[in-house]
Amino acid sequence: MRKTLSVAVFGGLLAVSALAGCGSSDDSAKGGDGGSGDKIVLGFSQVGAESGWRTANTESIKASADAAGITLKFANANGKQEQQIADIRSFITQGVDVIAFSPVVTSGWDAVLKEAKDADIPVVLTDRAVDSQDTSLYKSFIGSDFKLEGKKAGEWLLKQYEGKNEPVNIVELQGTTGSAPALDRQSGFQEAIKANPNLKIVKSQTGDFKRADGKTVMEAFLQSEKDIDVLYAHNDDMGLGAIEAIKAAGKKPGTDIKIITVDAVKDGMTALAAGEINFIVECSPLLGDQLMQTVKKVKAGESVEQRIVTEETTFTQEQAKEALPTRKY
Ligand code: AHR
Repeated sequence: MRKTLSVAVFGGLLAVSALAGCGSSDDSAKGGDGGSGDKIVLGFSQVGAESGWRTANTESIKASADAAGITLKFANANGKQEQQIADIRSFITQGVDVIAFSPVVTSGWDAVLKEAKDADIPVVLTDRAVDSQDTSLYKSFIGSDFKLEGKKAGEWLLKQYEGKNEPVNIVELQGTTGSAPALDRQSGFQEAIKANPNLKIVKSQTGDFKRADGKTVMEAFLQSEKDIDVLYAHNDDMGLGAIEAIKAAGKKPGTDIKIITVDAVKDGMTALAAGEINFIVECSPLLGDQLMQTVKKVKAGESVEQRIVTEETTFTQEQAKEALPTRKY
């Protein structure tokens, strides 16, 4: 079996190719659009509309499909895996050319992925990973390295307490339970802060990546924990909800409680520039163009990179002030 490993940077995305015997025409799409025309038909199942990030991601996918001349069938699962599975099954029945989806959670996809494979409809994962052992069930996975994002958040915090010998109480707002970003941002952060035993996560609960839930959970944290030094929120929206709770409790976000979030959407960056958040790890939602390029290749029977990693940065308060005027999302 032929195995190749290659790395290339293009369009702000890092493509890491791990191809095992990847051929060309024999794995092209055969689903077709009912033979009605030349336009590629892409069925896309989106997680939902839980955050500013998700809104920007949906806009990116729709705009890029339009620009690429791809007919997009878009389904919103409203955060429910059963709905996503039903949407994917419907795409199979309709005989779309390619299916793409952002899986709400990591597990439970093997059966529907096999159904797509049996129907000769290639699948591309975007944004979030699945835990399927059989990687032949999808052609490519385009998205961030969530573990690295968590690590960057933890490393920034480590630096803040370098050389200090004081207990640091951290509360964590996790993303959707069982989702790849929640699992990886948690483990990456935990691994990084291990280097300083004074840094302790005293409370950790899901806020489902939503602003309202971030607020409610933070209210509960503030009631049960007297001394909270740091909030680590797995996305901006939960952090922004928590800021409301912190203010209502008479504390100053960013000063009395240090806040670290992930995403760097405009609302988060605005709060960072205003001093209410201390550090943001970027997670880019602009995956549309790369997805459409991959869809075209897959449909043409060309080989594609099995893993395409989004390139991302981090922002301090000063960097947010500079970046805000040209921020796209
Ligand atoms: O999967 C990406 C995550 O999902 C984003 O960080 C979060 O805001 C979104 O809801």
